[in-house]
Amino acid sequence: MSAVRIGMIGLGHIAIHSHLPPLAEMSKKGEVVLQAFCDVNEESGREQAQAFGVENVYTDHHEMFEREELDAVYLCIPPTLHEDVETICATRGIAIFVEKPQTLDIAQARRFSDAIGGSGIVSQVGFMNRYYPSAEAVRARLEELTPRHAQVQLFYGGNPVRFWTSRFDLCGGTFVENTIHYVDLLRYFLGDIESVSAFYVDRKPSEGPPPMDTPHVYNVNYRFKGGVTANATTSRVLTNVSVSRREVLVVSDDSMISWSSNEVVENGETFEGVEKANAFGRQAEAFVAAVRAKDPEATRSAYPDALNSLSAVLGANLSAERGGELVSLAELETG
Ligand SMILES: NC(=O)c1ccc[n+]([C@@H]2O[C@H](COP(=O)([O-])OP(=O)(O)OC[C@H]3O[C@@H](n4cnc5c(N)ncnc54)[C@H](O)[C@@H]3O)[C@@H](O)[C@H]2O)c1
Repeated sequence: MSAVRIGMIGLGHIAIHSHLPPLAEMSKKGEVVLQAFCDVNEESGREQAQAFGVENVYTDHHEMFEREELDAVYLCIPPTLHEDVETICATRGIAIFVEKPQTLDIAQARRFSDAIGGSGIVSQVGFMNRYYPSAEAVRARLEELTPRHAQVQLFYGGNPVRFWTSRFDLCGGTFVENTIHYVDLLRYFLGDIESVSAFYVDRKPSEGPPPMDTPHVYNVNYRFKGGVTANATTSRVLTNVSVSRREVLVVSDDSMISWSSNEVVENGETFEGVEKANAFGRQAEAFVAAVRAKDPEATRSAYPDALNSLSAVLGANLSAERGGELVSLAELETG
């Protein structure tokens, strides 16, 4: 295959700031062609097309698929707005990169997963943490250890940035919208998750800040298929101060590993030789290489494999709604 012809659907925050810069670099080297942009907001599409030198601009992806010959599509729209891009790509044999969370509707995710898995197209869900060299280092080290449990603690600070990410019905809450990255990272380290139990502290309508209606706190417990357990706390209490904290720990026999994007520390000692890298850039390179090789196994989060990360966060919401009841992810994934 010569240059991979890419169509970008959704020209918002993540497309502009994270995906397009590395793809634009690859296009300078002749590895990809930014063939077409599509955004329901015509002005956004045109503005970005001008910025990235793209000639073909659409407001309806159906028209884009009819008129353009594409090898791959990036789908970067909010999770409640997914309709048929995934099935169109599966039917037409076009590779697809889908931003997380894939959707908030697990039945829809199952349908998309079956269509994508059955078609043999290359797919990738945007779990870029897997592309940090620090994540690769932890995964490799854990092969020599006996992990017992993991802990994720996220304390977000500040006011909501976008309307849809502050509304529970539009984003699924902070655990689904953000913590899914860390739940997926734990899967990269420890394998698939079997079951979940969760308690949340809800935000009353008067508590704000407006328009936020997502919970204050998410306390989630996981049991992994391999027997390991993990707990993940996400705090969205600190809305009017700009303090934040993020901790990912994996504890094995005689080993406590602390992961961050640029560093790995085991028992107080920093790993040597862990490079800092742009995970979005490495993720784009891996996706394009998989498209060229026509190899659906070559990405680290193919859509069917990533279903377990989505069911783990949607399952947390379901458990919290049911007062902490244990939810089996297999039941969510098979329907
Ligand atoms: N990987 C990460 O770290 C990360 C960070 C931020 C956002 N995201 C994810 O990326 C996705 C997009 O988020 P965002 O922050 O870019 O949102 P955004 O609101 O900034 O942009 C979304 C864009 O999609 C467009 N759009 C909506 N429906 C469309 C449709 N049917 N066809 C074409 N265009 C459509 C909107 O007009 C808008 O321009 C979400 O799933 C979000 O969770 C991932």
